[in-house]
Order: sequence, then structure tokens, then C-alpha cells
Amino acid sequence: MPPILPVWVQYQLMRRMVGDSRALEGATQTLAGLPGTVGAMLRGAFLRLVLAKCAPSAEVCYGTLLSQAGAVIEDRVYVGPRCHLGLVHLEVDVLLAAGVHVPSGGNTHFIDDPEVPIREQGGERKVVRIGRGAWVGSAAVVLADVGEGTVVGAGSVVTRPLPPNVIAAGVPAKVIRPRFPDPPPGEPTCSPVHNTEGRA
Ligand SMILES: CC(C)(COP(=O)(O)OP(=O)(O)OC[C@H]1O[C@@H](n2cnc3c(N)ncnc32)[C@H](O)[C@@H]1OP(=O)(O)O)[C@@H](O)C(=O)NCCC(=O)NCCS
Repeated sequence: MPPILPVWVQYQLMRRMVGDSRALEGATQTLAGLPGTVGAMLRGAFLRLVLAKCAPSAEVCYGTLLSQAGAVIEDRVYVGPRCHLGLVHLEVDVLLAAGVHVPSGGNTHFIDDPEVPIREQGGERKVVRIGRGAWVGSAAVVLADVGEGTVVGAGSVVTRPLPPNVIAAGVPAKVIRPRFPDPPPGEPTCSPVHNTEGRA
């Protein structure tokens, strides 16, 4: 706590003046430039104080900004350099490569009223969930949920939810193939359950 105390105090003061989102973004900008392992440790310590959850085993790299205190970062998550994260739920073992953007869904600004500037039309924030063990490639933009174990290609834009255990890529992201081959016909799809009760 002591090394990040000034940033935490700054955050507490600023959130009263400009609201939680802008205060968090400002505080993460302050911490974003701290390089190396020490930088990652200090960012982690701060995020554990202010986010809904940031697991101690998660790593958030240099240059990454967060804007929503409701974000959840689970165990062993890796967030690469220069990512921008809104209202996200990053499940265990998720990998985000460099420059991944995950805003809070695709409707953060409403756009339907022709008489009102977009900036004044309000908007909606949704939690974007990236499933356990998924890997999101460099510079992808993720606007919808990603299933467990799924791989999102570099530079893709995810506009619709992706199922688990597929490789998806492109703009908009489409499933290229399943991540694992289908088992041959007749073969069980999972290991048999052994009854271990009563063993000597
Ligand atoms: C998606 C990825 C994992 C490759 O998966 P793959 O199953 O080996 O795919 P292939 O290379 O066989 O390509 C299959 C098709 O998808 C296309 N494709 C692959 N990656 C793509 C991408 N990122 N965007 C758009 N299309 C892509 C290929 O062009 C190919 O199309 P074609 O069949 O019309 O020629 C890889 O391309 C990728 O994007 N990896 C992320 C790398 C990264 O960001 N690393 C950062 C450091 S952690």
C-alpha cells in the first residue's frame, strides 16, 4: 500500500469531482508508465484496491488503461502492454496480447437521435466476459463475449459472442475452425469415470 498511497488518494479525490470512470482512467494512466516487474506489482496492488476483483496472480502490463471499477480480473490472467479495458470479466488463465481493446460492449453511445449530438445521447455499458483460458491476439477489439478456450486472431473485431474452443478471426470475427479435432466416430468424447471407492 505505501508506494501507491498517493495514487489511491488522488483516485479518491478525483472520483468525487469527475466520477469513478474518469478517476480510474486517470489513476491507471499515472501507473501505466511504470516499467518492468515492479511496475506490474504496483499496478496490481492498486487494482486490487479499486476493482471489483483483481487476483494477486494476475499481471497487468505497461501502458494498460482501465476505466470501469466493476471490472473483474481473475487468477493468472495476463493483460499485455497498451490494452484498454472497460467493464470486463477476464476469467482464469485468459491471455490478452498487446493493444487489445475491450470496451464495455458495442453500445457505449446511443446513436439513434438525429437531433442530439452522440455525446449527449447516453449509452449502455455491458460486461464483456472473456472465458477461462481464452487467448486474444494483438490489437483485437472485443465487443462481445468470448467462450472458454477460444482463440481470437490478431486484429480481429468481435461483434457477436463466440462459442468455446474455436479459432475465430477477421473483421467481423468469424469462426475459422474448432480448436481441437473431432474425436473419431465411436470414440468417447471424454475420459471414462473411474470408481475409486473401495480401493485397497
Ligand atoms: C488465429 C491464429 C491463431 C492462427 O490460427 P490458425 O488456425 O493457425 O490459422 P491459419 O494460419 O491456418 O489461417 C487460417 C485462415 O485464417 C486466416 N487468418 C489467420 N489469422 C487471421 C487473423 N488474425 N485475421 C484474419 N484472418 C486470419 C488465414 O489468412 C487463413 O485464411 P485462408 O484459409 O483464407 O488462407 C493466428 O493467425 C493469430 O492471429 N494469432 C495471434 C498472434 C498474436 O497476436 N500474438 C501476440 C503475442 S501473444
